[in-house]
Amino acid sequence: MGRLDGKVAFITGAARGQGRSHAVRLAEEGAAIIAVDLCEQIPSVFYPLATKDDLDETQRLVEAAGGRIVTAVADVRDRDALQAAYDEGAREFGYIDVILPNAGIMPVLGPGFEEQAWHDSIATMLTGVWHTLEVAVPPLIARGQGGVVIITSSSAGLSSIGLNTAPGQAAYVAAKHGVVGLMRLYASQLAKHSIRVVTVHPTGVNTPMVVNQGYDEFMQANPEAMNNPNYKNPMPVELIDPVDISNAIVYLASDEARYVTGVTFPVDAGYLNR
Ligand SMILES: NC(=O)c1ccc[n+]([C@@H]2O[C@H](COP(=O)([O-])OP(=O)(O)OC[C@H]3O[C@@H](n4cnc5c(N)ncnc54)[C@H](O)[C@@H]3O)[C@@H](O)[C@H]2O)c1
Repeated sequence: MGRLDGKVAFITGAARGQGRSHAVRLAEEGAAIIAVDLCEQIPSVFYPLATKDDLDETQRLVEAAGGRIVTAVADVRDRDALQAAYDEGAREFGYIDVILPNAGIMPVLGPGFEEQAWHDSIATMLTGVWHTLEVAVPPLIARGQGGVVIITSSSAGLSSIGLNTAPGQAAYVAAKHGVVGLMRLYASQLAKHSIRVVTVHPTGVNTPMVVNQGYDEFMQANPEAMNNPNYKNPMPVELIDPVDISNAIVYLASDEARYVTGVTFPVDAGYLNR
């Protein structure tokens, strides 16, 4: 018996990285998965985003874990496209009760794209999260059986230590703080429906967002960032693994956490407690 038997999870940014790990880990615990990803490049992002092949690989891994999955290509910046993806999943599984707005970008460098980097970051990680809530929450309320929304923020959603004011990074901090406000608002509004809303706050995670050539070059060119003790985890780990976040999400999505709502949940090797 799995800890999430009978649940259906809607996950954005699920083609790779943490989103893929959540899809596989939740499937291992018995959940059915609707996996959504852009599968296209955003020009202001300096590292390659996921492809349709990556999303297909998520499907293969979920099925190998014994799970059921529907995949959809959609941009969280586009509410209508996200609605179509949601509808496709809901048609297949009948309902959705776990919502994971996870899609994200980090256009830290983007020379020549500075202004655009700001807009793309806010559109993906703040407006995109709001779109996900607007699409997925009304059917949860209508169903009347509770549910949970777990928004992926970041340690940069509770602190700005170690970060700089490059437009992409400033927007990243603003969006990741912004979703904490959204979480608090929706958590208080939805409590009477037994719908829980929380944020998770990972420290650096070993995914292509931060493990790529462009990010390495940025860190080499900015030794003050690389050597900044504030940029390091107190626990002896440079990057944690996607499954470390997935395991927290399994707990938060499960009935074990049935009265946990309105909280900011760090998975950060002590980063925020310095
Ligand atoms: N990796 C880290 O160090 C770290 C730390 C804290 C928080 N986060 C957050 O975790 C989440 C997952 O990131 P990750 O580390 O797995 O990175 P990742 O780049 O591997 O995965 C992000 C996924 O989101 C997708 N995506 C991007 N823009 C999209 C859009 N507009 N619509 C739909 N899909 C889109 C990408 O194609 C990609 O598959 C993000 O919100 C990120 O900000 C990451």
